Amino acid sequence: MPPRQRPVGTVTRGTTNPNRLRRCDRWIAGPQAWRLRRSPTPPVVVDLGYGASPITAVELYDRLRQVRPDVRVVGIEIDPARVAAGKPLERDGLTFRLGGFEVPLDDGERPTVVRAFNVLRQYAEDEVPAAWALVQERLAPGGLLVDGTCDEIGRRASWVAVDEGGPVSLTISLRMGGLERPSDVAERLPKSLIHRNVPGEPVHAFLADLDRAWARSAPQSSWGARQRFLAAATEVRERWPLLDGPSRWRLGELTVDWAAVAPLDR
Ligand SMILES: C[S@@+](CC[C@H](N)C(=O)[O-])C[C@H]1O[C@@H](n2cnc3c(N)ncnc32)[C@H](O)[C@@H]1O
Repeated sequence: MPPRQRPVGTVTRGTTNPNRLRRCDRWIAGPQAWRLRRSPTPPVVVDLGYGASPITAVELYDRLRQVRPDVRVVGIEIDPARVAAGKPLERDGLTFRLGGFEVPLDDGERPTVVRAFNVLRQYAEDEVPAAWALVQERLAPGGLLVDGTCDEIGRRASWVAVDEGGPVSLTISLRMGGLERPSDVAERLPKSLIHRNVPGEPVHAFLADLDRAWARSAPQSSWGARQRFLAAATEVRERWPLLDGPSRWRLGELTVDWAAVAPLDR
């Protein structure tokens, strides 16, 4: 691939917050940890578009080092000032560099995971496929792009996992305390789905069904919201291809096969 002159993408708002991405980190360091563990060489994980402060990249590094002590985390930002803000925090296995969806790494390096959180939400829906395709080209075998969105302090999050072949799953992850209904996550869906939460689209049907199951599970709330969510997920599994189970549902997290929620025209 010839070297590109400019990073691919556009500088957008840099809003971030400490611990904002903990729910996604927990998923990468949990059900996805096998991707890091099986790498014969130190795996590279990219935090693409880490924002005005490099804090979430540092947190990702700390969390993944528990799983794979030789992991290398590379924070990539399209805004040079944000790269400069990261440089003083560099250490063994944590670096920051300028770049975009082309995911520039050292020669021969390919990322096992690219986490791009709250990045594509600031792009147009029709820009998503090309951005995904560029990142997909760069992935290590068995690698994953995690394209997600969350609220300011990470209480509600969702992400699409995309491997070399295309999108594979949608995960929603919700803080139980104060949760009115699972579809509260709707305004934090990834760009590829947020405009599709309308009647007739599969993701709308999925969230509506989850809400109904949540309502029917109300009696479980005497044992706490966690039990209620568990009951709702158990019911929904009868109708939707959930890819995870009770150990994740207890966390307020639920992953469904992408094929069941994909936009109708994709
Ligand atoms: C809202 S911040 C998200 C920060 C952090 N990921 C979070 O979720 O808290 C989005 C960041 O993505 C950066 N960005 C936008 N497009 C990008 C691209 N194509 N490549 C790298 N960074 C990009 C912006 O400059 C901005 O700093």
